[in-house]
Amino acid sequence: MTDKITILSIETSCDETGISVVQYDKDKKTYTILADSLNSQIEIHKEFGGVFPMIAKREHGNNLTGLLTHCLRTISPNTQPGVDEKNIDYGLIDREKELTEKIIQELENTNSLLLKIPNIDYIAVTRGPGLEPALWVGLSFAKFLSKLWQIPTLPVNHMEGHISSVLIGSDEVDFPTLALLISGGHTELVDVKTWGKYSIIGKTRDDAVGEAYDKAARILGLSYPGGPLIAGKAEVLRKNFSEDYIQLQKDKFSIKLPRPMIHSHDLDLSFSGLKTAVLYMVRDLKKNQNVENLSEEIIDLICHEFENSVSEVLISKLNFANKAGDRKYKNLIVAGGVIANNFLKEYIQKWCQKNEINFLKPEKSLATDNAVMIGLAAIIGLNNNYVKIIQPNTEEFASLKPDGDWTLNNI
Ligand code: KG4
Ligand code: ZN
Repeated sequence: MTDKITILSIETSCDETGISVVQYDKDKKTYTILADSLNSQIEIHKEFGGVFPMIAKREHGNNLTGLLTHCLRTISPNTQPGVDEKNIDYGLIDREKELTEKIIQELENTNSLLLKIPNIDYIAVTRGPGLEPALWVGLSFAKFLSKLWQIPTLPVNHMEGHISSVLIGSDEVDFPTLALLISGGHTELVDVKTWGKYSIIGKTRDDAVGEAYDKAARILGLSYPGGPLIAGKAEVLRKNFSEDYIQLQKDKFSIKLPRPMIHSHDLDLSFSGLKTAVLYMVRDLKKNQNVENLSEEIIDLICHEFENSVSEVLISKLNFANKAGDRKYKNLIVAGGVIANNFLKEYIQKWCQKNEINFLKPEKSLATDNAVMIGLAAIIGLNNNYVKIIQPNTEEFASLKPDGDWTLNNI
């Protein structure tokens, strides 16, 4: 028995194509990233102001093979057994045109690393939640490789991936832990009893936090994704002016946004009203000032107000979750793309200090979607015996397909 588990992981749930190789050392209990490659489609989706599932699918198909060969080169020792060519099964990827073309191209090279069985124990892949056309590409690719190399597939939940992203660079997590997941597609408060035992105790009724950032940015004429742009503008304001001065300026232009559901005495969230409030505010300001475009100064003030609103609402829900129920949470995990936000991070850090809760967050590069987190979740699932280990050439393998709505409640 080896004392290490090595996982090749694949992420294609939204607009990032990721492949990585992550290793767990059972003796030292450490996680190491052996290889990592990521291709962001942001520049392509920017044009449309959001993610188009069929374009995301096409791009994943175009990118996966190149990202894989990059990772295989990074981990490759010189001698590896060759694959049995009867295991090349194009039937597993026949719904994926771009992917098939790239794989055929790659396999024309008889020295291709794909034709050598790599030194990995499992292939982990995001099965959901996410955009189904995008998920299909990653899952079909994983199945193709699984059959080719006769290595089992592990289907992984994307949101569990976000939770697991905090494991790089931190100690083992103790429980109970509260998790706040804030991304472009999800906003969830999760009670983590232990690994694999999740219960969603609160979530958004409509838009996710990241989605609200992106939509508000669009209304303000900023590009996609709007989160980092709004954050950048609010940060510049905070750096250069006192809070009192900023408030005075906001009062001058009547810039005040609601704090949706802040007093609702439950863990539900809602961000679509906030986006609509930005829309009306922009419309009214333009009308009052009789201008086509708002000044930079006003846009910065709206960004600042928007970020304050989101942060205050999230903190109020953390307060509620921490006080409700009889659990004494040891950790707060905050993960998902929006935790790349420095202001929110500091705000939550202070809240954790005040409430004597340990704050766990991913390294910045692992906050937004990536494949490393999928490998980490797979390792956790293996170590705690709940991830499905699907052998190629089985019924279960043949029927394995994505689930765009796979919730953490059903791990
Ligand atoms: O987790 P993620 O990469 O993808 C999903 O699974 O959705 O999250 C992407 C979201 C986008 O909505 C983006 O605007 C937001 O995270 N985001 C931010 C920041 N960086 C990314 N939101 C606020 N502040 C940021 N600095
Ligand atoms: Zn995500």
